[in-house]
Amino acid sequence: MDYHKETVLILDFGSQYTQLIARKVRELGVYCEIYPYNMSLEKINAFNPKGIILSGGPRSVTETGAPVCEEEIFALQVPILGICYGLQLMTKFFGGEIDKSIKREYGKAHIFLDDPDGLFKGVKDGDVIWMSHQDRIFHMPEGFKILAHSDNSPYAAIKKTDSKIYGVQFHPEVHHTLKGKRILKNFLYSICKVKGLFSPRSFVELAIEKIRAEVGNNKALCALSGGVDSSVVATLIHKAIGDNLLCVFVNNGVLRKNEAKEVLDIFEGKLHINLKYVDAEEKFLAALKGVRDPEKKRKIIGRLFIKIFEHEASGIGNMQYLAQGTLYPDVIESTSFRGPSATIKSHHNVGGLPRKMKMKLLEPLRELFKDEVRIVGKELGLTDNIVYRQPFPGPGLAIRIIGDVTTERLTILKDADNIVREEVERNEKFRHIWQSFAILIPVNTVGVMGDERTYANVIALRIVESEDAMTADWAKIPYEVLDTVARRIINEVPGVNRVVYDISSKPPSTIEWE
Ligand code: XMP
Repeated sequence: MDYHKETVLILDFGSQYTQLIARKVRELGVYCEIYPYNMSLEKINAFNPKGIILSGGPRSVTETGAPVCEEEIFALQVPILGICYGLQLMTKFFGGEIDKSIKREYGKAHIFLDDPDGLFKGVKDGDVIWMSHQDRIFHMPEGFKILAHSDNSPYAAIKKTDSKIYGVQFHPEVHHTLKGKRILKNFLYSICKVKGLFSPRSFVELAIEKIRAEVGNNKALCALSGGVDSSVVATLIHKAIGDNLLCVFVNNGVLRKNEAKEVLDIFEGKLHINLKYVDAEEKFLAALKGVRDPEKKRKIIGRLFIKIFEHEASGIGNMQYLAQGTLYPDVIESTSFRGPSATIKSHHNVGGLPRKMKMKLLEPLRELFKDEVRIVGKELGLTDNIVYRQPFPGPGLAIRIIGDVTTERLTILKDADNIVREEVERNEKFRHIWQSFAILIPVNTVGVMGDERTYANVIALRIVESEDAMTADWAKIPYEVLDTVARRIINEVPGVNRVVYDISSKPPSTIEWE
């Protein structure tokens, strides 16, 4: 069943929570897409949306030049839910008045229902809601009624009496709004009347159909890194076109311990995917010899990777498609409607390939958020070991060895890092951890082992929590776990006599040390 038939559109006015709205809507089984607030009516109509959600935003609707959507959307007969700024915008449009609140409301508040409307089915008086606003409605527009009020907002939720236009002052999408998901569910199922066609399984079925239709009997190439995105891409495309997919896996010598073997075992051994393994360890280490500058390391690794990949690809012939693990946040980011302050990531694993290679791009995960990719991975039968794999940078361990990358230093780091993987990364309890790894610092310190004085390497541990790698905080890992990791590293890895824990956040630090 094509879940696109039930698309809900989210018009983004710049709220930090917009992606959260989308994720909640999808968790509720409804496909949705985010677009800039000023999306044209024509484009909106082309989706034939089941509902439209207007997000919150940092501006005030009373300011000149404040963002506005196409006003005709209010006449479309499509259910609309305005959240915070969205509510204020519709209030202004329908002739109500907005005021800067004397009492701002940030954080926890309580809702009290005034009208038993379907939007609040299952919600009780006094339930906690989450507010984050300064402006609020002063005069409700004509033709609207109050559905609910809160401690400080007489108009916590309103509805246009003669149509399905709703506005809420609070944020149903955030976790702290106790019945937030129920409210969104009510909007989608009782008001927009969706059936709920979107699920990881429906995604997989449709994606396979679409890939088959697009690729036909042609061939596709996929650079497999062993990370979750490229693994899911490869598995999905393999299901669609079988042996017409060729994966290339380049061992650049700076992978984590046993990583190359694990990837080969899974993709060749278990999934029987057509895989070309390129052992380029020596080439990379030779190119990195004596290089200390992190940006130079990145460039050397990136360029060499492209060169090797192109060389392999050119020998195959008849490859029309290049598969990539682009995700929905990348798509949103590249439409850059968040204005000049948009954060642009400079890291891209296979950056530069498509333009040079003149192949058509196949990006089957373009519609998905990361957590959805993991669910799709499970649906496709990938093991937890792949599905919950932490992000790993393209330049790999080379940027975790501060200074020279030598075989000896790589061995030390791989062994130390493997202990972190065993104690933290592979432990289900720590799945919320964004990344956990070891860094080899180019400093020797004094220690004592038995009766011997040692003068050996220091390993730093970096374990962080993050949503998107843009900001991160060091993880408050239990002392016992840190203790085990440190003891094991010092006892099991020759050449290390000290372990330290990095307690810096990003910003001002970064996640990686180089
Ligand atoms: P930083 O160190 O900038 O890292 O806080 C943010 C995220 O990006 C990863 N990272 C990279 N990924 N190539 C990549 O593919 C790179 O050169 C690179 N540098 C950092 C890092 O692991 C973290 O997840």
